[in-house]
Amino acid sequence: MSEKKLRSQEWYGRKGKDGFIYRSWMKNQGFPHHLFEGDKPVIGICNTWSELTPCNAHFRDLAAALKRGIWEAGGFPLEFPVMSLGECSIKPTAMLFRNLASMDVEESIRANPMDGVVLMCGCDKTTPSLVMGAASVDLPTLVISGGPMLVGRFKGKKIGTSDVWRFAEDFKTGKLSQEDFIKAEAAMSRSVGHCAPMGTASTMAAMVEALGLALPDNATIPAADSRRKVLAHMAGIRIVEMVKEDLKMSKILTRKAFENAIMVNAALGGSTNFILHLTAIAKRIGVDIDLSDFDKFSSLIPLIANVQPSGEHWVEDLFYAGGLPAVMKEIASKIHTDALTITGKSIAENISEAECYDRNLIGTLEIPIKPDSGIAVLKGNLCPNGAVIKPSAASPHLLKHTGRALVFENIDEYKAQIDDPNLDIDENTVMVMKNVGPKGYPGMPEVGNMGLPAKLLEKGIKDLVRISDGRMSGTGYGTVVLHVSPESAIGGPLAFVQNGDMIELDVPNRTLNLLISDEEMEKRKAAFVPTKLPYERGYVNLFLDKVNQAHEGVDFDFLQGSSGSEVKRDSH
Ligand code: FES
Repeated sequence: MSEKKLRSQEWYGRKGKDGFIYRSWMKNQGFPHHLFEGDKPVIGICNTWSELTPCNAHFRDLAAALKRGIWEAGGFPLEFPVMSLGECSIKPTAMLFRNLASMDVEESIRANPMDGVVLMCGCDKTTPSLVMGAASVDLPTLVISGGPMLVGRFKGKKIGTSDVWRFAEDFKTGKLSQEDFIKAEAAMSRSVGHCAPMGTASTMAAMVEALGLALPDNATIPAADSRRKVLAHMAGIRIVEMVKEDLKMSKILTRKAFENAIMVNAALGGSTNFILHLTAIAKRIGVDIDLSDFDKFSSLIPLIANVQPSGEHWVEDLFYAGGLPAVMKEIASKIHTDALTITGKSIAENISEAECYDRNLIGTLEIPIKPDSGIAVLKGNLCPNGAVIKPSAASPHLLKHTGRALVFENIDEYKAQIDDPNLDIDENTVMVMKNVGPKGYPGMPEVGNMGLPAKLLEKGIKDLVRISDGRMSGTGYGTVVLHVSPESAIGGPLAFVQNGDMIELDVPNRTLNLLISDEEMEKRKAAFVPTKLPYERGYVNLFLDKVNQAHEGVDFDFLQGSSGSEVKRDSH
């Protein structure tokens, strides 16, 4: 045991009435007295299990494996639920509740008698919400992800979430029947786990591994593979050791760790949602990163992993090819390999034995899968505080493009008009959607990769430049400019775009401009009237009042920073 008294003893080590109260009710679960005597670190298991979060529905099994490891190492596991966000079910968008879930996590950890915590994360928002909340408390903390689904199989082909967009297009143009559409649903989600491509969930699982918050291989072992349970068991052993070593989150989450995460994300062609979540986590732990860091460090790294949506294969395949440690080894000359991780070792030590077993899956710096990857950050009169695009998922011929704007004032207008046969749209059009930013459509929905009208799809046109202040699913693709900041709902310049305006996108030079004069821009600005949103009460009202913009992480201003783990008052 460490010399330091365990934090949990502030509860269980009390004498008299206080100790009685803290221990007695716990004993109704059959825990013997010696567990409370101060030589067993209490490990909180922060579980996002829920049948409404299907990507995390196997977490009871995983928690059982984790507990075995904690008991083996001499710890005392106590599992607790927190708000679980199922991306595919929650309306209007799970992102609206990420900050709420993070508050639940933060206060649940701080308020309870635990010495260390394991965060059980899977579906997209369950990772950032848990990491953000835990970062504001700063106990020894380890993350275990649920793992990706096994790749789906449909009519002889491998399929996964990134095919949803293709299926939708084929259904729209009559190439896929309703019957086959339903069969594809079952074929795609055939096992436990989160989405099979490098969507936001796997991007987040890789992010925590790259940050040093998870054991090696956390990102890629399939959910259904028994080695995922082995990983959980080993995580249980490790978190007990971390408590003894007082290895807190703030010792891991340094500036170097964040730079590593950005470079690893580029190597994977990870989701654009990564930017929002990593920024929010950094601000919680007090590390200063901004959009320019994403461009700067991304641009050092080409696409190394050949995984959808930027590449061809699946996260499951990446595991068989060597997993994230093998990817990190390929970029070891670029990342900070001396960064400390939850193993108590450096990245260099963690990846020293990693090997690539399949060059179709993992490229090298010299022969990458694609030369461009990561995130390009755009600036210009249309996005003074920045906008982002994922070049590896875009059409090369559109990365430098000037076209006429077709404007949708909101998502409802888009839905009503997109399949109008008279819609004035062709292959050069720049589609613009307003009012889908953090405040404009509270929570910033994943609608930035607006589907194209059937009349263009039938002509074989699969991509247009699309611009919005919203987000895009990590499984989405196309020449899609996202996260325009400031957003249109608060009077950002996107609000002033009109049908027929010319817009110039120049990704190589990192610019996005509305080609109107400064005088005209000022005139339109003066005429801008913000829309009053119909939210008078409750959480959404708080969200609208406190949420910051995309370039700041879409967090609440009052949640940035850490309050530490000390509980300042005691009622007994
Ligand atoms: Fe949960 Fe994709 S819907 S990870």
